[in-house]
Amino acid sequence: MHQATSVTELRQYVQHWKDHAQTIAFIPTMGNLHAGHISLIEKGQSLSDRTICSIFVNPMQFGPNEDWDHYPRTLDKDIALLEANGCDLVYLPSASELYPEGLERISHVQVTDLTDDYEGAHRPGHFTGVATVVLKLFNIVKPDVSVFGRKDYQQYRVISKMVEDFNLDVQIIGQETTREASGLATSSRNQYLDDAQKQQAALIYQVLQRTAQQIDKGERDFEMLQARATGELQEAGFKTDYFCICNAENLLPATTEDRDLVILVTAAIGQTRLLDNIEISLW
Ligand code: PAJ
Repeated sequence: MHQATSVTELRQYVQHWKDHAQTIAFIPTMGNLHAGHISLIEKGQSLSDRTICSIFVNPMQFGPNEDWDHYPRTLDKDIALLEANGCDLVYLPSASELYPEGLERISHVQVTDLTDDYEGAHRPGHFTGVATVVLKLFNIVKPDVSVFGRKDYQQYRVISKMVEDFNLDVQIIGQETTREASGLATSSRNQYLDDAQKQQAALIYQVLQRTAQQIDKGERDFEMLQARATGELQEAGFKTDYFCICNAENLLPATTEDRDLVILVTAAIGQTRLLDNIEISLW
């Protein structure tokens, strides 16, 4: 597996592959890689000749009270995992090259509408940081396809909208969520849970599934379903920031006319805030 740390170096590899008419899949990550990330790599490999993964803990998407400093950095393990899974190149940009004049001076990308609620409301500026770094990475890598996890459903929609709004020449693929046997969505944050909390965390997906089944069976009182699910999670000891049944495209609260829905949820156990969702098709 090749490694590139500078834009120039990265572009040399990419140019070489493009000269040989090879297509490129790109998977941006912040490292601390797990089975969910590897599923994106595998998806990229199935769609293109070459797969590039970036690892960059992007300071621009962390709020002042968030833990950029403490974000788990496991570079050697990540590189070994990527290598074992046949990734062609890992790109390890430096903050000084991506943000040479610091975070204050850089132009930024604000994706409209989709970023106001849910994670956008709880983490002001987060999606601006995500969209800005992903646009930069797209312009550096120039991939044919880029794979994002549906685990971070709002992020996946924000990136898809940025690509549409700015006519970016890259195809965005949303890869389904990788889960542990219990149903808990695989996440870097799961390592902060002890065994009992991990068991408890499996309830999140169970509640999502039960709510989805009720909608599937014809229940359309979304407010009641949301209140019931939130109550169930709170009784079990979770702090929920939101549990919202939404239109899967624009993420507005769902109406009874909508056919493609997604339920977005965050539930925190202690200091660990877990994010999950379930998609529902009523066609
Ligand atoms: P990170 O949290 O490292 O996630 C990288 C990619 O892995 C994202 O597309 C995320 O949705 C996906 N992913 C994480 N857990 C997953 C799971 N259980 N199943 C499937 N996919 C999963 O998301 C980011 O980094 C950053 O915001 C980034 C896009 C790299 C911009 O900095």
